[in-house]
Amino acid sequence: MSRYILALDQGTTSSRAILFDRRGNIAAMEQQEFPQHYPQSGWVEHDANDIWRSQLEVAQAVLKKHQVSAADIAAIGITNQRETTVVWDRKTGEPVCPAIVWQDRRTAGLCDRLRAEGREALFAARTGLVLDAYFAGTKLNWILENVAGARERAERGELAFGTVDSWLIYKLSGEHLVDSSNASRSLLFDIHRGEWDDELLAVLDVPRAMLPRVVASSGVAAQAGEQWFGAALPIAGIAGDQQAATFGQACLRQGMVKNTYGTGCFMLMHTGAQAAASKNKLLTTVGWSFAGDDGKPRDTSYMLEGSIFVAGAVVQWLRDGLGIIEKSSDIEALAAQAPDNGGVYFVPAFTGLGTPYWDPYARGSMSGLTRGSTKAHIARAALESIAYQTADVLEAMQKDAAIALAQLRVDGGAARNDLLMQFQADMLGVQVVRPQVTETTALGAAYLAGLATGFWDSQEEIASMWQVEREFDPAMAPDQRQELLDRWRRAVSCSKGWML
Ligand code: G3P
Repeated sequence: MSRYILALDQGTTSSRAILFDRRGNIAAMEQQEFPQHYPQSGWVEHDANDIWRSQLEVAQAVLKKHQVSAADIAAIGITNQRETTVVWDRKTGEPVCPAIVWQDRRTAGLCDRLRAEGREALFAARTGLVLDAYFAGTKLNWILENVAGARERAERGELAFGTVDSWLIYKLSGEHLVDSSNASRSLLFDIHRGEWDDELLAVLDVPRAMLPRVVASSGVAAQAGEQWFGAALPIAGIAGDQQAATFGQACLRQGMVKNTYGTGCFMLMHTGAQAAASKNKLLTTVGWSFAGDDGKPRDTSYMLEGSIFVAGAVVQWLRDGLGIIEKSSDIEALAAQAPDNGGVYFVPAFTGLGTPYWDPYARGSMSGLTRGSTKAHIARAALESIAYQTADVLEAMQKDAAIALAQLRVDGGAARNDLLMQFQADMLGVQVVRPQVTETTALGAAYLAGLATGFWDSQEEIASMWQVEREFDPAMAPDQRQELLDRWRRAVSCSKGWML
């Protein structure tokens, strides 16, 4: 009997491969960072071949180093940075240009134009999304308009579009697919009917011939070729990383909420089988779906989402841009040298602001500096910015759901930072709960794959495996919290509209 599920977690800055055992514990893990490209202000690109190469290498390495053969693997689950847009030649399998990363702002002007034409309500009603450069649709339009020959070739059916899940699956299996959670981030997908939408395709001028077939998040969708792992392996779980993390956190019932601290920070609330429209600038999105007998997606769960573009990335910037820490984990000790932020606020709007501001023209700012400010204050302000941004999102979510949240489940790299998690609880006035396994993104993809192949039996079994590692209770006086949040919001107003 196979002992593991192999989860491939293709994130914004690194590719990871993790083997999970039947108890949902990590048996082995490999990780590799890959290059980021910033060719112009507000642009962020990846080489799609770096994505593929790094992902394949860690997947092969995790098996080799831990002496696991393909026979030990029941299935592969894939989870990925969402919205990042890849276009490749169907014949050669070569990308036609660099992948445009979700953080890239180059299509802000197109979004403005669509808004001025009064298209916002149409996109919101069909896709649940706001008109922002974040999503794949306008990036795809940019490629068709700006890469020589791309439109003609796409119309002749020679080019394929995909998000990173599609790209990896194409490389692994030759199939051109996307799961419904990733499709729901494209501005081209009707989340209610679960289909590509011809009217939206016409507005964004995208030929249907380049779109992948939409499959369920949980279901055997393709076979990874035997050349990669020594035997063919079923790809049975596919989900965008934030949806996968929600599944991995066992937020399987309506009203449950998780927050993942990765490159960005994403809070998702499960809203059940119906898509709930937001009145407070949150996104409505597909969580996951299960394959019916005909293999098509059904039993879709929907989410409300708040998206923060820069969270862990601010720590990387302190390391690589400012050079005040050597490695990311040094930030906790440096920030702890300052008893408080000393009046310093850091708004890391490097690539604009997401929920609830949706301002592609915002840029980073630091305010409140004095002669007494030190690098410890800056480190502290950077960490605090993650918690303040999360507080902004939670406020919108509580308004939308008209409920006071009792508890927030957290995961991702920065969730291991105790100082940040305590401050987060203080800023939210809500208990913050960290589970035993914080690699919940990969775990969620593994669960989706394991449910489809009988490795696990039911969602109840999955919920029963979720275990608390530590709880952080709010300890700050409400008026102190309010004062900090008020100053943060003043600082945000300095960042807004900077590039206009
Ligand atoms: O929507 C972008 C998101 O999927 C990126 O996630 O984990 O790379 O911050 P992460």
